[in-house]
Amino acid sequence: MSIPLVLEQLRSRSHEAVMLEEPVPTSELPTPALLLNRPALERNISAMATYLESHGKGFRPHAKTHKCPLICQRQIAAGAVGICVAKVGEAVAHAAAGIESILITSPVTTAPKAAVIADLARQISGLSVVVDSMAGVDVLAAQLDASSPVAVLIDLDVAMGRTGARGLDKVLALHERIVAHPMMRFAGVQHYAGHLMHVEGFDRRREKSLSLWSRLRDEVLTGLAERGIECAVVTGAGTGTYNIDVEVPELTDLQVGSYIFMDEEYRLIGGRESERFDDFEVSLNVACTTISQPRNGAITVDGGYKAFASDSVAPVTDALPDVKFHFAGDEHGVLALPDGEQELRLGQILQFVTPHCDPTVNLHDYYWVQEEDNLVHSCWPITARGASW
Ligand SMILES: Cc1ncc(COP(=O)(O)O)c(C=O)c1O
Repeated sequence: MSIPLVLEQLRSRSHEAVMLEEPVPTSELPTPALLLNRPALERNISAMATYLESHGKGFRPHAKTHKCPLICQRQIAAGAVGICVAKVGEAVAHAAAGIESILITSPVTTAPKAAVIADLARQISGLSVVVDSMAGVDVLAAQLDASSPVAVLIDLDVAMGRTGARGLDKVLALHERIVAHPMMRFAGVQHYAGHLMHVEGFDRRREKSLSLWSRLRDEVLTGLAERGIECAVVTGAGTGTYNIDVEVPELTDLQVGSYIFMDEEYRLIGGRESERFDDFEVSLNVACTTISQPRNGAITVDGGYKAFASDSVAPVTDALPDVKFHFAGDEHGVLALPDGEQELRLGQILQFVTPHCDPTVNLHDYYWVQEEDNLVHSCWPITARGASW
C-alpha cells in the first residue's frame, strides 16, 4: 500500500462519538473492553489545566496517550495552547478531525514523511515540528512550500539518549540552517526527559529533573540567549514531573500525557505527599470477564497481551487488591487468588487499571464511555490507533 492510500484511509476514520441506543452496565460489554470514565477524565483535564495556569505555564497535552480527537477538543476547551502528537500519522488523523494546532514531537528524516508534513502545513495553520539533525532540516526544507511555512523547534538531549541534539555547537549549527530556509520559522526548543518520569519518590524525581534542566541551561539555553536567539517556545515535561518542572523559569509549556488516564506504572512512583501518585484519578480501565477455572486458587480472564500493554508491572484490580494478575498469553490472564479464598465466580466482570496506558489504548478500537450513573452511554473512536509511523 502506498502512502497516499494509507493517508486516505487514515483521514476517513471516524472521530465522532457514537451514542448507544440505551445505556448499558459494564456487565453487558463485549470484553475485554477499554472503559473510560468521562467525569473522571474531565476532572483530570480540568485539574491539570488549572494547575498549569496557576503556575503561569502553558498546557500542551500529548495526544499520543489517547489518540482521540474528542479528548483533544476537551483539552483545548480547557485552555490547551495546542496538542502534541508523537508521529506524523497521528498528526494526519488529528488534523483530519479538525485539530488546528499540532506539534509533532519526534523528528523525521525521510522525504515521504516530510512530504506529508508539507501537506499538513497547507491544511492547518498551527503545525510545528521538531528537528535534531542537519539531515532532518534538509529533508523537510526540500518538501515545504514557502507559502505554508512551518514552525520548527530544535529537540534537545542532555542525558536520555533517545532523540535530540546535544551540545551548543550542534544546536547553533541547526539554528543557522533553519533560519536560512524561508519555509521554516524557528520557534524554540523541546526537551523531554522521559527517563526521569518514573523515578520513584518525589524528592528524588525533583532533584534529578531540576538538575537536568540546570544542565540544559548551562549547556545550551544560556548560550542561545547570549547570542540573541530567542526561544518563544520551550516545551517539554510529562506527568511525572508536572509539579516539578513548573519551577523551571524557561519552560513555557508542558507536554503532559498520561495524567488524563493514569496507570499502574505512574501510581507506583509516589506523589509529593503520598506513597501513591494519586494527584489524578484513574479514568481508564480494561473490563475483563472470568471465563475458566481449571484449578482451585486461580481463575482465568479473557484479557492478555492483546488487551493490556505492559513493559513492567501487571494489571491490577482495585476492588480485589490481593488478587494477582499473571499474563497467560495473548488472549488470557490468570488471577491468582489469595489462599483458600474463592470470591470470584465464572462470568464475572472485573475492571483492571492498565499497567501502561498509552500502548494499551493503541490495542483497542474505541473507548466505552461511562457517565455519572456508571452506565456506558457512548463509544469514542480511537481515531489514531495504530498510526505509529
Ligand atoms: C516527547 C514526549 N512528551 C511528552 C510525553 C508525555 O509524557 P507522560 O505520559 O509521562 O505525561 C511523552 C511520553 O512519552 C513524550 O514522548
